Amino acid sequence: MALIFKGLSWTLRLVVGAVLLVLMTNCTMLGLNYASLEVDSKPDARPEITATALSEWEDGRNALIETFETFVYGPWPEGQAVRLVSRTMIDDGFAGGRGSLEELVIEVGSDDGARRFHVALALPESETPVPLIISQTFSSNCGAFPGATLTAPGGGDCADHETVPGFVEAIFGEFIALVPIEQYFDRGYGYATWQAGEFIPDRQGEAQAVMDAMAGDGVAAPTGTLAGWGYGFSAIIDALEGDPAINADAVAVMGHSRHAKSAMVAAVYDRRISAVVSHQSGFGGAASSRSETGETVERMVDGARALGVLSMEGYPHWFAPAFADYASHTEDLPVDQHQFIALVAPTPMLLGNGRRDVWSDPNSTYRMAEAADPVYELYGTQGLDQDGMRDYNPEAALSYYLRPGGHAITQRDISTFLDMLDAAMPQGNRVPDTANGDSLTSQ
Ligand code: GCU
Repeated sequence: MALIFKGLSWTLRLVVGAVLLVLMTNCTMLGLNYASLEVDSKPDARPEITATALSEWEDGRNALIETFETFVYGPWPEGQAVRLVSRTMIDDGFAGGRGSLEELVIEVGSDDGARRFHVALALPESETPVPLIISQTFSSNCGAFPGATLTAPGGGDCADHETVPGFVEAIFGEFIALVPIEQYFDRGYGYATWQAGEFIPDRQGEAQAVMDAMAGDGVAAPTGTLAGWGYGFSAIIDALEGDPAINADAVAVMGHSRHAKSAMVAAVYDRRISAVVSHQSGFGGAASSRSETGETVERMVDGARALGVLSMEGYPHWFAPAFADYASHTEDLPVDQHQFIALVAPTPMLLGNGRRDVWSDPNSTYRMAEAADPVYELYGTQGLDQDGMRDYNPEAALSYYLRPGGHAITQRDISTFLDMLDAAMPQGNRVPDTANGDSLTSQ
């Protein structure tokens, strides 16, 4: 390409450059065009949420969850055994002596279906139990806390493991892998991170084999990795239950992109979770499955191609097999994601978005949040409390935030997440004791 370019006159270079720029700024997949601030052109939230009393909503909640299981996520692996295999102090003077870093090994499932994964747990020095954020990482625990003697993916020491290259940070943000632990400690939070792919691989075929092997007598196996990964969040909460250093009434789950989708699934089922940061969850998360902007369900499941040379594999393994059957006609799906957001209520949730992240469809995400808002209000919490996509209220139980830029985790995102958590966490868990859901984890 560079050679061809060199052979051109300056005028032609300018013309070719301009054409490339126009092509690229229209390329949603590369994150180079802008989301409009238009919501009304998005598909209506269908089916409409009609419950007018909390009891009516709660009575129908389990049936709605079952519909999502059938058509979108597959079963929550309820009843899979969880075991804390080990808990090791890695550094008791972590972050310049401000806290500790430990490594946990957690096992989920039994016999041939048992899976293990590592969790890096950073806790600030504190005389009182601390609120905890549990987050899935895109890289590995080595990339999250570089320099710490944690276990690398596949075993071995992090010292021999390459972490995230600079160009990845340049595209996906300074904090796509790195955890700015000082900032979390400054605000009094503990932070646990784990790589979901170590539990259930993020690869079609391999994922299915691992999930199938989890099936056992009387226990459900996931059929989509998002539900499986969601259960991983719960397993960590189980493993840390009773730890006097952690405030069990202030545990948040956090994730970016695919991990934002699974954080949402976790919060639907595990009502011990007190807050959710779901950043750029897109399709299969907070965006409308019926929207035709950006990735779309069809591309997510079947893969995508752009500019004739770029191609991206799909992720059918994230979902129940039935979801793929609807990929090309999502108008026939019996549910949409406003109901999924509503299932998280009344737990405070931040939906993060990027103006150039059209791929994740910020517009239909706002549309879905608006339609889920009445359910937050039924619980007596302040639901979505903002005037359009560009407004933002960290105090609201359902908040939507749109920043410039693309699909990434930036400093501005971290500060926004912390502001929302500072508002939400001191209020503790808001799920009423009377909430329905006997079969759910926390009940
Ligand atoms: C792909 C996928 C998205 C997903 C994203 C991510 O772009 O298509 O649905 O959210 O990966 O996890 O980064």
